[in-house]
Amino acid sequence: MTTLLITGGAGFIGTNFVRFVRRVRPGWHLINLDLLTYAGNPENLADLAGDPRYTFVQGDIADWPTVSSLFAAHPIRRVVHLAAETHVDRSILDPGVFVRTNVVGTFNLLEAARQAWKDLPEDAGCRFLHVSTDEVYGSLGSEDPPCSESSPYAPSSPYSASKAAADWLARSYFKTYGFPVLITNCSNNYGPYQFPEKLIPFALCQALEGKPVPIYGAGGNIRDWLYVEDHCAALLEVLERGRLGETYNIGANQQRTNLELVRLLLQILAEMRPDLGNRQSLITFVPDRPGHDWRYALNTQKIADTLGWRPRVTLEEGLKRTVAWYLEHQDWLERVRTGEYRRFLETQYGQAVVQEKEPACGGG
Ligand code: NAD
Ligand code: TYD
Repeated sequence: MTTLLITGGAGFIGTNFVRFVRRVRPGWHLINLDLLTYAGNPENLADLAGDPRYTFVQGDIADWPTVSSLFAAHPIRRVVHLAAETHVDRSILDPGVFVRTNVVGTFNLLEAARQAWKDLPEDAGCRFLHVSTDEVYGSLGSEDPPCSESSPYAPSSPYSASKAAADWLARSYFKTYGFPVLITNCSNNYGPYQFPEKLIPFALCQALEGKPVPIYGAGGNIRDWLYVEDHCAALLEVLERGRLGETYNIGANQQRTNLELVRLLLQILAEMRPDLGNRQSLITFVPDRPGHDWRYALNTQKIADTLGWRPRVTLEEGLKRTVAWYLEHQDWLERVRTGEYRRFLETQYGQAVVQEKEPACGGG
């Protein structure tokens, strides 16, 4: 039986990935190591509690004894490393924890796996997938060609710099030790279970409550949006069939300005909840994020040509599924919006955005 360690499995992509692998590889034993920070939610996977092929371990990847003892206790042969601090705005407010989790935590996992696997035969099938982001390549201009796997790194924020450092550690383990690592760099994900600090679920929450939907700067910054289930399928392809030591870009080729994206999101919300009326007037331009990257775009030819992976879900379809999920899970949203979350929003956006409500909700 394959034993797969998933780190950060109680977060957004992790929850979707655990569910995806459970469905398509039902025989695998999944171990989910997650610290349960503000972004991790055990409720997401509560229905797996009695499953003998699922083990949840609450622990910190930056704590060496936690990580090394896990490899001693279980015959882990595969790792999908998702655990990270992930929000750019939080990395600007408090960068230290990003270095600790994203750099030291990744080092601990690489080193514990290297020590556990070094005397195993090649046919043991050990593989370590380090999951990273398109943000490591830095900001593109509107007309620049998309980044390929060999584009230079130029991270801008403490978040992307800490992910870049982790990527290079992973690359060094392949070069120095022949360690069986793979790296993926993916564009912005969206879909069910995303914590409502990121643009799409945050805009949706604000719009549902008739509060301002803040857009940084003039809303011209461009991101490429991938539905999370497409990302999960790509991760499994790379884990199973990717070439060791290689990097794979994963993206949707669905670039939009932030303003275009939020307008589309609010239009879909209005179609699904006509009782709310037109919420476009809630869009509010607020001061720009410091060091805000203008555009991310990825060339995804390599994963398409070598592994045959392509995104299946269009942006419009993915947004419809996402809005539907959040509308059906408003109790989930209520529970994750804790005191810590509300304090973060006040620090980040100020009282006006967090508390102010439209005078009359539901107007046309
Ligand atoms: P998330 O913030 O939703 O979840 C992160 C998870 O990691 C949480 O469950 C949290 O509890 C856990 N965690 C944090 N610190 C930990 C620690 N010290 N030890 C153990 N667990 C810890 O993140 P996400 O959006 O699901 O992203 C997952 C991964 O994918 C990250 O590595 C991120 O860099 C990468 N990624 C995300 C996106 C995106 O758009 N969300 C895009 C590309 C790459
Ligand atoms: P985000 O979801 O934080 O992802 P990332 O910064 O990792 O790309 O933000 C996506 C884009 O939306 C980014 O350009 C910043 C912008 N943004 C806003 O304009 N307003 C917001 O309230 C948030 C959270 C993000």
